[in-house]
Amino acid sequence: MKHPILTIDGPSGAGKGTVSRVIANQKGWHYLDSGSIYRALAIAVLDQAVDLENKVEIVHLAQRMVLEFSGIEVLTVKLNTVDITARLGTETTGGVASQIAVIPEVRAVLLQKQRDFSQAPGLVADGRDMGTVVFPDAAYKVFLTASAEKRALRRHKQLIEKGFNANLEQITRGIEERDLRDSQRATAPLVQAEGALYVDSTDKTVEQVIKEVLLLIL
Ligand code: C5P
Repeated sequence: MKHPILTIDGPSGAGKGTVSRVIANQKGWHYLDSGSIYRALAIAVLDQAVDLENKVEIVHLAQRMVLEFSGIEVLTVKLNTVDITARLGTETTGGVASQIAVIPEVRAVLLQKQRDFSQAPGLVADGRDMGTVVFPDAAYKVFLTASAEKRALRRHKQLIEKGFNANLEQITRGIEERDLRDSQRATAPLVQAEGALYVDSTDKTVEQVIKEVLLLIL
């Protein structure tokens, strides 16, 4: 039997990362934080000062970048042997990531890198198109969302806790912009996968959401 895959898609700040990590740990499964792959490419683009209109060079960077992931609860990411973990979570990185994520050729290059995470005994994959494009045959699919206001508040708290400067108004605007771009792009837009369990986490605790998702798997 092929190993199980749980996909958790949804907009930024819905709690996908937290929920995915806990479940992956509990089940002893692998974890794919697909957003961090787009974010790593964004860092490569920023570091090389590549113009965001220069799609050919961005695709080249995607083809050449070598990523190393380790850990689940504390995820460490190396880009071409350099530890970029501390830079992954910033709003600048997220904004650029969502701009390069609209390029179909970039998505095509990153597809295999994501599928490589699917290994026994199982995988929890978090992102925007895990259940629709990357792992369409996944046994378990979840669409996790929350109101934009609540997501902005959570992101704000997260950034402050990580020691970043954070402005709630700016974050709200950034989230709205990213939501719009992610859900309206032509290739692999953010949509609920067919058969996915819809979970609205606006008024739920992390524990409640985890319980609900685990019911699907058990
Ligand atoms: O999830 P995270 O906020 O880290 O993702 C950063 C950006 O990467 C998203 O706004 C989205 O544009 C892009 N992304 C994507 N497909 C995924 C994961 C992330 O397009 N599966």
